[in-house]
Amino acid sequence: MQTVRTSEELTRALANLGGGTRALVPTMGALHAAHMSLVDEAKRRADKVVASIFVNPTQFNDKADLERYPRREQEDARLLERHGCDLLWVPSANDIYPQLFATTVHVAGVSERWEGEARPGHFDGVATVVAKLLLAVRPDVALFGEKDFQQLAVIRRMAGDLNLGIEIAGVATVRDKDGLALSSRNQFLSGDERAHAVALPRALETAKSAILAGDPVAAAIREAKQSLVDAGFLRIDYFALVDGATLEPLDEPKTGMRLIAAAVIGTTRLIDNMPVETDQSHIASEPR
Ligand code: PAJ
Repeated sequence: MQTVRTSEELTRALANLGGGTRALVPTMGALHAAHMSLVDEAKRRADKVVASIFVNPTQFNDKADLERYPRREQEDARLLERHGCDLLWVPSANDIYPQLFATTVHVAGVSERWEGEARPGHFDGVATVVAKLLLAVRPDVALFGEKDFQQLAVIRRMAGDLNLGIEIAGVATVRDKDGLALSSRNQFLSGDERAHAVALPRALETAKSAILAGDPVAAAIREAKQSLVDAGFLRIDYFALVDGATLEPLDEPKTGMRLIAAAVIGTTRLIDNMPVETDQSHIASEPR
């Protein structure tokens, strides 16, 4: 696997990559098993896989959060190579945002609530950098995790609206054995916080079952929030049932709905989400 930094090096490396289809996996590094599931899926979908590592300053609201973001390029490169990635692009901040850079990609609507409200400007930073990464690599498909469900919806809208002609593929959330979604933020949890953090996926599961069983949505959400408070979460930014495409809140169940949540335990903010749909395999296995 070759590692390139400047856009000139990238252009040359892409030209030497050979024919066939290409996939891009954009990341901010500190890679773990979930990132590797994106790379594995990229390999299934395209002939060549390009990954990028760029800790994008414009999507951080909090300078301290940006500064403490883990950076370990050598380990990341080894992992990517082991998973068959063909090319790694590690641009500098100056490559992405040269002096006089003045353009922002703002995706209205789907970016406004939830993470958009909790982290003003975050999705402008994401949409702008992802547009730049996609335009520089011009892959056939780019892969993003469902873990960041609103981010995936914002990027889909952006790529569609700008006619980029690049397929945006979502990859299912990868979880630890107990159900906590993998995240580079989990390393900031103390042992005790880590043990209690599992209340977040559990609350989503419980609310999902309650909604599918026909309980009122408001009651299911109220109970889920209470279970997070009981587990020691200090703040719940949101816990909501939404339309999976528009991210608009729902009072009543409908097809394509999703439960989304963000909450703080200790000093760490965790986000998670789950599809709310009848388990087809379960239904199929039931006696008729
Ligand atoms: P980062 O947090 O490094 O995540 C890179 C990709 O991995 C994203 O698409 C994210 O959704 C996915 N991912 C992270 N944890 C996951 C999990 N447990 N299961 C499935 N997928 C997971 O997201 C970003 O970087 C940035 O915002 C980026 C898109 C690179 C733009 O800067």
